Amino acid sequence: MTNRTGYVDPAYLDAAARLAEDGKRLSYERMRLSPGERALDVGCGPGTDTLHLAQVVGRAGRVVGVDRDPDMIAEANRRAQAAGLDDVLEHRVADATSLPFADGSFDGVRSERLFLHVDEPERVLAEMVRVTRVGGSVVVMDTDWGTRSVDSPEVDLERRFARVLAEECLANGYSGRRLFGMARRAGLVDVRVDPVPLVVTDYDFFSLLSRMEVAVDAALRTGALTAAELARLDEGWRAMDAAGAFFALTTMVMVTGRKPPPSHPASAPDASPVRHRDLHADAGDETAVEAAEPEGIRLPMRDR
Ligand SMILES: C[S@@+](CC[C@H](N)C(=O)[O-])C[C@H]1O[C@@H](n2cnc3c(N)ncnc32)[C@H](O)[C@@H]1O
Repeated sequence: MTNRTGYVDPAYLDAAARLAEDGKRLSYERMRLSPGERALDVGCGPGTDTLHLAQVVGRAGRVVGVDRDPDMIAEANRRAQAAGLDDVLEHRVADATSLPFADGSFDGVRSERLFLHVDEPERVLAEMVRVTRVGGSVVVMDTDWGTRSVDSPEVDLERRFARVLAEECLANGYSGRRLFGMARRAGLVDVRVDPVPLVVTDYDFFSLLSRMEVAVDAALRTGALTAAELARLDEGWRAMDAAGAFFALTTMVMVTGRKPPPSHPASAPDASPVRHRDLHADAGDETAVEAAEPEGIRLPMRDR
C-alpha cells in the first residue's frame, strides 16, 4: 500500500473494522443499494465490507472489490468462498487511480480509509465518480488524523505526537477533512457529511490502531519528540490505563454524494458554492435541507 507506515495486515483491519462497525453499517445505507444492484468497494482490503454488501444486493446483484495488494485480494476471495458468496462477489487487483471498469458500471461505489494512503486523492475520486451510474451514490469514508485527541497529563507532548502521526506516517493524514471539498469539486450533488466518532479506552488497542511503533520511529527521526519525552507520554498513558481512565477519540468523516447527469449545472466548476448560511440555518433538520436545497449540505447526520 502507498502509505508511509508500510503494510497493514488483515488482522489489523479486522480490529479496526470492529471499532468502525457503526460507520461501516451507515456507509452501506448511504449507498442506497437495492437487491439486484451492482456495488464497488475501492481499496477493499480483505473483503471486510464486500461480504456485507453482497448481503444487501442479494444473489441477483453483483459486488466487486478492488485492491492493489494481491495478498488482500487473495484473502478477500478466500473469505468470499468460505461464506458461499463467490457467485455474487468478485475481488480483483486494481489501482484506484485507474479502475478497470466502463463508465457508469455501478449503482453504488464506496471506499473506506483509502484516501489516507493515496498520493492522488482527486484522481481516485474522479475514477469512483466515473464508474458510478448517473443517480448512483459515491460514499467515501476516511479518518481525519488531525482529530486524534488523547487524554494525557502531557498535553503539549500529546499534541506534537498527534501531528507526527498525521503528517509523517501517512500519505494523506488529513484526508477526512478534505473529502467534503473534494466531493463538491468532483461535481457530486446532494453532498452530505456524517462524522463517525471512534472511542478507544484500552491503551494496547490504541497502540495497535495508531501503529505506535511506526509513529515513535517517525517522532525520533524527525526530532519532533525526544526519547525522554516519548517515555513520559507513554508513562502517563500507562498510568491512566492502569486506572481504567485511558481515553482516545478520533473522528472519521463520511461524505456521500450522488452523480448528476452531465447536463446538470452542478457538473460545471463552482456551480454550487458552499453557502455557510445553509450549514448553520439547517443543521439538525435534514428534511428541511433536502426539500429546500436539493444540492445542499446536510449536517449533522441524525438517523444513525
Ligand atoms: C486501511 S486499508 C482499508 C481496507 C478496507 N477498506 C477496510 O475498511 O478494512 C487500505 C487499503 O487500501 C489499499 N490501497 C492503498 N492504495 C491503493 C490504491 N492506489 N489502489 C487500490 N488499493 C489501494 C491497501 O492495499 C489496503 O488494503
